[in-house]
Formats: sequence, C-alpha cells, structure tokens
Amino acid sequence: MEPLIQLIDVRKKFGGQEVLKGVNLAIYEGKTTVIVGESGKGKSLVLKHILGLIKPDSGKVLVFGKDMNKIGSKELKDIRSHFGVLFQNAALFDSMTVFDNVALPLRERTNASEEEIKIIVNEKLNLMDIEYSNEKYPAQLSGGMRKRVGLARALVLNPKIVFFDEPTTGLDVAKSNEIYRVFHRTQTKLAYTAVIVSHDVPKIFKLADYVALIHEGIIQDCLTPEDFQTSENPAIRDFVEETMGLIYESEHVEG
Ligand SMILES: Nc1ncnc2c1ncn2[C@@H]1O[C@H](COP(=O)(O)OP(=O)(O)OP(=O)(O)O)[C@@H](O)[C@H]1O
Ligand SMILES: [Mg+2]
Repeated sequence: MEPLIQLIDVRKKFGGQEVLKGVNLAIYEGKTTVIVGESGKGKSLVLKHILGLIKPDSGKVLVFGKDMNKIGSKELKDIRSHFGVLFQNAALFDSMTVFDNVALPLRERTNASEEEIKIIVNEKLNLMDIEYSNEKYPAQLSGGMRKRVGLARALVLNPKIVFFDEPTTGLDVAKSNEIYRVFHRTQTKLAYTAVIVSHDVPKIFKLADYVALIHEGIIQDCLTPEDFQTSENPAIRDFVEETMGLIYESEHVEG
C-alpha cells in the first residue's frame, strides 16, 4: 500500500545545528503512528514539516503523493483541509466559549448554516463527553476537558489525518487515560489516520500500530510495538531499556 505521508531524506539546520539529518518516514492510511524520542530531538519539527509549516533544507515531504514544497497555496490549503491538529496546549481561544471554539473551523472553512453547525458541534462534543459545557469558557475547564475540547475541534471537519503533539502533557494519570480512551473511541468511530508525538511511551504502545524513534537526526526505525520492543537497533534498544519497566507497570492501564 502507498503511504499517505512520506518524508524522504529530510534535512533541516538551524544556525550551525543540523537537527534533521536525513529523516525517512512513511505513514499509512488508517494507522496510528507514534513518534517518540528524547526532548529536543526534532519530533515537533517532523510534524511541522508534514503540516507544511516549515520547509526542509533538502529532501521531500509528500502528502497524498504531492510534494508539499512544490505545490501552490491553493493546493496546500486543500491538503490542509484534510488535517486535524491538536497542539500541545490545546490552543483554545480564551475569549470564545467551548461551542464557538469547536465551531470555528466550520465557520471559517465551510458554508455550513448555524443550524448545521449546531448539530455537528454537539455531535463531536457528545463524543468527548463534554456536551454540558458548551457555554463555558476555556478558563472554566479542567486541563483534561480543555484537551477534549481541542480534540473535538481537531475532529470537527472529519479530517483524514489527525496530528497530536503531546496530547497528554500536563495531565495526571487518570486524565491522560481518559484522553486515550476518547482517542480510541473517536478513532474507531471516525477511522482517521493518526500521527502522535508522545512521551507517554508505555501507554502509547497500546494505541500504536507503528512506533518510530527519532534519534541523532534520523528516524532509526518505524516498527510495530512488538517489533520495536525486540529491535536490535542500539538506539531503540537503549530507549526500550529505559522505558521497559514502565511498560510492565502500566500493563493494567486500558487504552
Ligand atoms: N523554528 C526554529 N528555529 C530554531 N530552532 C528550532 C526551530 N524549531 C526547532 N528548533 C530546534 O530544533 C530542535 C528540535 O526541536 P523540536 O521542537 O522538534 O524538539 P522535540 O523533539 O519536539 O522536543 P520536545 O519533546 O521537548 O517537545 C531543538 O533544538 C530546537 O531548538
Ligand atoms: Mg515537541
């Protein structure tokens, strides 16, 4: 099967520092690919290249077979209309209610009537178990609720691909688990392709179809969680060794 997204020998330097040294990665339709790696190794940077927010110094980023850096702004906009993005801090607008935050992409990017918007937004909020908070403002919500509103907004246009950068950062264990449950439920229902950047290694292994480790400027390998845990690649082996204890400890945590 052709990958939905492909990075081919992507290189990126900032100042004198080469952060990406030839990244190769393929993302497949309907699958959940989790990018892991130590802080500052370039995980968010890889996402930004896929979103077309940053251009590589060399190499290619293909989305739906199109080179993100060779297409015009109209085509780029069209491709992005299939993306849903959940940023690290959920990035909600503080001056807007929950309802208006989730409705925003519909108002900006579609011709849906207010009546249609109401139906779609309520349906998505329902999916997140937050349907009684429509008129609240982000400041009145807990961290977990804010993430769920962010997730509702990321999903409101029924995207083909959803990107999550650290979906559970700053949440306690119970709230993180709740996010993973909501994620699991919505992905089963909406069947999107997911690309997740996460530090939550043990838990995220349960959701992942593929795990990719970024280390020393390259994706060392992209493997099923089972193969990842038994990989002979020294960087992956080190990474697994450091997190393995946690994998066993989290065995009872349901994804
Ligand atoms: N726009 C930019 N300008 C300059 N340097 C950048 C830029 N974006 C990223 N970097 C650098 O590239 C490196 C990788 O950054 P990135 O944000 O991708 O890390 P990360 O793996 O997501 O880390 P974390 O887990 O802490 O979020 C860092 O050293 C960062 O300072
Ligand atoms: Mg990051």
